[in-house]
Amino acid sequence: MDHRTPNLIDPAAARRGFSWTAARDELTGLPDGGLNVAYEAVSRHAAGPRAHAEALRFVRADGRRHSVSYRQLDDRMRRFAARLRSIGVGKGDVVCTLLGRQPELYVAALGALARGAVFCPLFAALGPEPVEARLARGHARVLVTTERAYRTKVAPARERLPDLRHIVLVDDETSWSAFQADPSAGDEIEGTSADDPALLHFTSGTTGAAKGALHGHAVVIAHHTTGRWVLDLRPCDVFWCTADPGWVTGTCYGIIAPLVCGATLLVDEGGFEPRRWYSVLRDESVTVWYTAPTAIRMLMKAGPDLLPTGGFPKLRHVASVGEPLNAEAVQWGAEALGRPVHDTWWQTETGAICIANLPAEPLVPGSMGRPIPGIEAAIARREGAHLIIEDAPDSEGLLVLRAPWPSMFRTYVYDEARYRKCFADGWYITGDRARRDAEGRFWFVGRQDDLIKSSGHLIGPCEVERTLMAHPAVVDAGVIGKPDPVAGEIVKAFVELHAGVTPDESLRRDILAYARRRLGPAVAPKELKLTDALPRNRSGKILRRVLKAQEVEQGDVG
Ligand code: WT7
Repeated sequence: MDHRTPNLIDPAAARRGFSWTAARDELTGLPDGGLNVAYEAVSRHAAGPRAHAEALRFVRADGRRHSVSYRQLDDRMRRFAARLRSIGVGKGDVVCTLLGRQPELYVAALGALARGAVFCPLFAALGPEPVEARLARGHARVLVTTERAYRTKVAPARERLPDLRHIVLVDDETSWSAFQADPSAGDEIEGTSADDPALLHFTSGTTGAAKGALHGHAVVIAHHTTGRWVLDLRPCDVFWCTADPGWVTGTCYGIIAPLVCGATLLVDEGGFEPRRWYSVLRDESVTVWYTAPTAIRMLMKAGPDLLPTGGFPKLRHVASVGEPLNAEAVQWGAEALGRPVHDTWWQTETGAICIANLPAEPLVPGSMGRPIPGIEAAIARREGAHLIIEDAPDSEGLLVLRAPWPSMFRTYVYDEARYRKCFADGWYITGDRARRDAEGRFWFVGRQDDLIKSSGHLIGPCEVERTLMAHPAVVDAGVIGKPDPVAGEIVKAFVELHAGVTPDESLRRDILAYARRRLGPAVAPKELKLTDALPRNRSGKILRRVLKAQEVEQGDVG
C-alpha cells in the first residue's frame, strides 16, 4: 500500500458497518476483561515489537533532543504508579499536573492512569485563581508541579485545599526521584473497567466557576479509532500536536491517541516562532500535524519568506481543531505546506473528535466535515423540554449528538444537575449552532452562549468578571470576546468604577495588571475600557450581547 493511502479508505462503508464493540476489540484489553488507558497507550507496545521504538521525542528549546522508548516510558509510568500506591493514592483519586511540556508531565499523566487514578491537567499559564478553583472543584489529592508554580500559585491557597495531600515537585531532586524510585513489580496497572473514571478536564462555563467534565477509560477506544481514521496515524508516523497538554486536545491527541496508535509523539518544548515551527516540521520529519486555526493564521501572517526551500516532503496529513477554520487557511496549507488543512470538530465534553474532514473524503474548505463512524449528529431546535430534529438540508440550529459514545463525558463533577441539562430525548446538546448541507457535511455557525474562544482556548466571561470586580476601584464588569483576525477573539473587559474614582490611564493599566496577576496571561483581558455605565436589562443583568454588538460595529468602521 502506498504510504499516502489513508487508513480508512471507504468512510461511507465504515459508517454503515461500524460498531463501538468491534472498535473496542481492536484494543488489547486487560486480562480480566477490563480496560486501562495507560495499558493500551504504552504497556501493550512495551511488551511487543514496538518495545524499543521511540514513543516520545522531546525537542528542547535549545534544539537538543531527548527520546524515550515505549519500554522506557512503561517503566517510568509504572514507577510513578507504584509510588502513588505506596502513598495510598487509589482508584478514583484525582492527580493534577501544573506543568509545561516536559517529560515528567507525560510520566505523571500515564502513571496516574495506570494506577487507576483520575488524571487532571491544569494549563501552566493559568493564574492562582483559576488554579485554586480547579483544585478545589476536583478535590485534587496530588499535584505534580514545579517549585516556582507551587510557591506562587498554590501555596497561598493551601489551607483552603484540605484534600490536597501530596505535592510532587519535578525540579526538586528528592521529591521527583521518590516518584521514580520504586521499581516495577509488574502489577502497577490497576484493573480498571471502561466505565471507571480516567480523565477530568475543566472547561469554562457561562455562569460561575469552571465545570469538570469527567471521562471513563473507554475514551481510549475513541482515541484509537479517531487517531487512525481522522489523523491517519500509524506506527511509523512522527506526530506533532501543538496543543498544550494542559488542555483537552493536548491530553487526548497530544498524549493518548498517538501512543495508542503506536506512533512517535513529538513534543516541542519551545514556544511559537514561525521559523522554529517550520524547522521542527521539516527537520524532525513530521508526517502528521494536528494544530489550531490561530496557529495557521499566525504562520500565514509571517509570510512565505520563512518557508524552507524544498518544502515538507515527509508531511502526509495536516488537521486542525478548536475554532472555525477559514477556507483561506485550508488553501494556504495546500500551497505552503503541500497539504490542505483538514478541519475537525469536538469539545471537552465529547472527549474525542466527532465531526471531521476524513483524509479519504473530498475536502470542502469551510466545512467541519461529516460525523465519524460511530457518531450520529443532527441539527435540532428546542420545543419546551424536547428537541425537534430538523431534517431539511441547510437548516440552521443546535448541533446535537446521539448519546452515548465511548468518550462522552460521564458527568460534571459535583454538578450532576448541570450534566443532565445537557441532554434531551437521548441527544447531547453541544451548545454550538451549525448547519448541515445536502451531502451531510456540517458547517459551524457559532456558539449558543457567551463563552469566548481566544486562540482556541475557551474562556468563561464570569471567571474574568469576578476577578475584575475584586479590584477595589471596580463596581461591575462585563467581559466579551472581541473579534480578532488571528486569534478568532480576544478577551475584552468593560469596567464600571466606584463613584468618585478618577478614570485615568494609570488606573486602567493597574486593573489590567491586577487581572493578569490573578488570572494568568491565557485568561486575563487583553483590552480594557473604563466606562460610566454598563448596559443592563431591567433586572440589572449586564448585557454582554450589547457590548459585543457595539464592539463589532466599531470594528467594522475602524
Ligand atoms: C468548542 C469546544 C475540541 C478540543 C478543543 C477545545 C469550538 C471546536 C471547532 C471547529 C468551529 C470549533 C466549538 C466547541 N470548536 N472545534 N472545528 N470549528 N468551532 O475544546 O475548549 O471544549 O471547546 O470549540 O465552539 O464547542 P473546548
